[in-house]
Amino acid sequence: MNRNVFIVLAALLALFVFWWSSQDTESNNVDIASLAREKARKSAAAEAEAIAVQSDLATLAKQGKGQPLPDYLATDIDPSGKFWLVGHPAVEFGVEIPFEPGNLPVPKSRQGSKKNAAGFLGADSCRECHADKYETFVETAHHRTSRLASLDEISGPLQGSRNRMNTLHPEIGFEMLERDEVAYQRVSFFDWQFEVPMQLIMGSSKMAETYLYWHGDKLFQLNCTYLSEPNTWINSPGYLDGDAAYARPIQSGCLDCHTTYAEFREDPNHFSPDSLILGISCERCHGPGQQHVDYHHAHPSEKKSQHMTVPSKLSREREMDVCGQCHTGDKAPKSPGAFGFRPGDSLDDHYEKLEGYDESSNTVHTSNQIARLALSACFEESDMACVQCHDPHKNERGMTQIFSQRCLKCHQEKQCGMHETLGPKLKENCVDCHMPKRATENLRVETVSGQVFPPLRDHYIRVDQQATKQFLDALQK
Ligand code: HEC
Ligand code: HEC
Ligand code: HEC
Ligand code: HEC
Ligand code: HEC
Ligand code: HEC
Ligand code: HEC
Repeated sequence: MNRNVFIVLAALLALFVFWWSSQDTESNNVDIASLAREKARKSAAAEAEAIAVQSDLATLAKQGKGQPLPDYLATDIDPSGKFWLVGHPAVEFGVEIPFEPGNLPVPKSRQGSKKNAAGFLGADSCRECHADKYETFVETAHHRTSRLASLDEISGPLQGSRNRMNTLHPEIGFEMLERDEVAYQRVSFFDWQFEVPMQLIMGSSKMAETYLYWHGDKLFQLNCTYLSEPNTWINSPGYLDGDAAYARPIQSGCLDCHTTYAEFREDPNHFSPDSLILGISCERCHGPGQQHVDYHHAHPSEKKSQHMTVPSKLSREREMDVCGQCHTGDKAPKSPGAFGFRPGDSLDDHYEKLEGYDESSNTVHTSNQIARLALSACFEESDMACVQCHDPHKNERGMTQIFSQRCLKCHQEKQCGMHETLGPKLKENCVDCHMPKRATENLRVETVSGQVFPPLRDHYIRVDQQATKQFLDALQK
């Protein structure tokens, strides 16, 4: 199913990073190849021997160094001046890294306070007074969608037989491993190896996790992404099989939708590392919490909430806009950026509509639930909003029966034409017939074993004969 998510990741990247999309990788490779050929004539054999001696990456890392680049590999700075390319005369593919070959990525040192002017605090600061909501909320995909890459949070295998990712090219391979409580992706390019730490996770892992790391105040994506189904490592969406690409910038867009807050400094991927509030907290739906928390600390006997918005008390349109920050199709934030949105605001005041874009298309990565739902008779002929079916404070993923009960808040079983055919079974699952999962061409991930399309729920609720047939066929098996 993941391929859907990932094609759009690729599309977003292409949109946001012009220097990336303007890369002509092929001609770079040609340059590198000719450079490399020259070098290779010198002393490949002698060099390979020297490398073998220094192959202990762990020892080198303790000295703050990486393995030196063997002489038979060629390196050059990309024409944009933003990253290094490493190549070999015999192959078309290569390595892209934002740090000099032979070195390691260096995160910026801590900067002290992470208080932000906007007043976002993170979900932990709501716990003392809203323990009931908090305890279930931490299990949700929203809360888990970005987090520190501690070993117990990484879902992808770091040991055993599944911790490798091979490519179609025997000279390049990846190994995911842990050392001293840190997870790394180790790249082998001919005899040369280097490691990049996995520092942040993006994605709750219901479908996938992709990993990020810091170099200075710049945030980059690692080459290998974990796909939950079928429990395997794949090239990150949009990456070419065979390249080891560690220089792809994470732009503000990813963090707009996958964190509570991040202070964006400069294009394309400069952030204040200490400013990040990971996970999508309560506050992206209720508004920044600082004033509310300060007020209720100062007035412990106050029973009436101050400085807090409940989306369902807004008009339906404004309520939908809260979710619409992240659950519509592609759109470009206006100044001052996505973190300037407050519940009650109109999305149009914060985002540009993209030209030539069909608003209701199921372009997934976000599967565009708002525009798809809006096509449904249920939505048109009732006051339905997202919370009619979703409790944002609980993880109810896969609980088809609970969702089906929510259909029956407005419908009766006997309204459904399948009522007699299915009898009591009907109420267990309205959704697979009326809101089937759909894979779309727009989201596709390339893996060594072929393409993967992550299917997502289509929120256009309707009578769907194809889905009905599939449902009935599955029942017979
Ligand atoms: C010091 C205690 C305290 C803290 C901390 C606190 N709240 Fe509250 N909150 C209250 C009280 C008291 C109310 C009013 C009674 C109620 O609805 O529970 C309230 C109500 C609310 C409401 C319902 C508002 C309404 O109009 O019905 C929301 C939403 C809310 N808080 C969100 C948050 C969020 C988000 C955080 C963390 C950023 C947070 N609260 C932290 C005390 C607190
Ligand atoms: C417009 C908001 C938006 C932007 C921008 C965005 N995402 Fe997402 N992302 C989502 C939503 C929503 C989902 C969940 C898809 C669904 O369930 O419909 C998701 C899903 C994912 C997943 C899969 C998570 C899982 O396990 O289900 C990953 C990984 C991911 N995004 C990474 C990224 C990265 C990396 C970027 C930047 C290139 C990015 N996203 C940009 C909204 C966004
Ligand atoms: C994805 C958006 C979203 C997130 C995240 C979220 N909420 Fe809510 N919250 C809502 C919506 C929507 C409602 C209204 C629900 C309804 O009317 O059925 C609500 C209602 C509430 C209420 C008041 C009504 C009630 O059900 O008691 C409180 C209190 C509350 N949320 C606190 C929190 C806290 C605390 C967190 C984080 C631990 C949180 N919320 C996270 C969207 C969200
Ligand atoms: C700040 C961005 C943002 C906002 C605001 C937001 N979401 Fe999400 N939502 C996401 C992302 C990102 C994911 C995917 C998380 C993942 O799996 O990694 C997601 C996932 C979900 C899921 C899937 C959960 C699962 O486990 O399958 C539901 C349902 C959902 N959101 C509903 C809502 C509703 C309803 C609202 C408004 C009340 C809302 N969201 C507001 C970004 C957002
Ligand atoms: C908030 C109330 C509400 C909820 C919840 C609701 N519906 Fe509806 N639905 C309606 C209304 C109103 C109509 C239009 C009148 C009618 O056909 O009954 C409708 C129409 C439909 C139709 C006919 C569509 C068409 O194109 O003619 C189907 C099928 C349907 N609903 C299925 C569902 C399913 C399945 C769920 C749960 C996933 C659901 N509904 C949840 C209110 C609701
Ligand atoms: C096996 C697939 C299947 C399941 C399960 C199913 N439906 Fe249906 N539903 C259909 C089909 C097919 C029709 C159209 C039947 C017809 O035209 O005679 C329909 C018709 C409907 C309609 C009337 C649409 C109209 O034209 O007005 C509603 C409302 C509805 N279903 C709701 C539900 C609800 C609620 C559930 C769960 C309790 C449910 N359905 C479960 C396949 C299904
Ligand atoms: C009529 C009921 C209904 C309404 C209204 C509804 N959803 Fe859903 N949604 C579902 C069902 C059913 C699922 C599948 C849940 C599952 O299997 O875990 C789902 C799944 C999702 C997912 C997970 C995507 C995936 O394919 O795994 C997201 C994200 C989501 N909904 C967001 C929204 C948003 C945002 C809104 C409001 C625009 C909304 N939903 C309104 C019924 C609804």
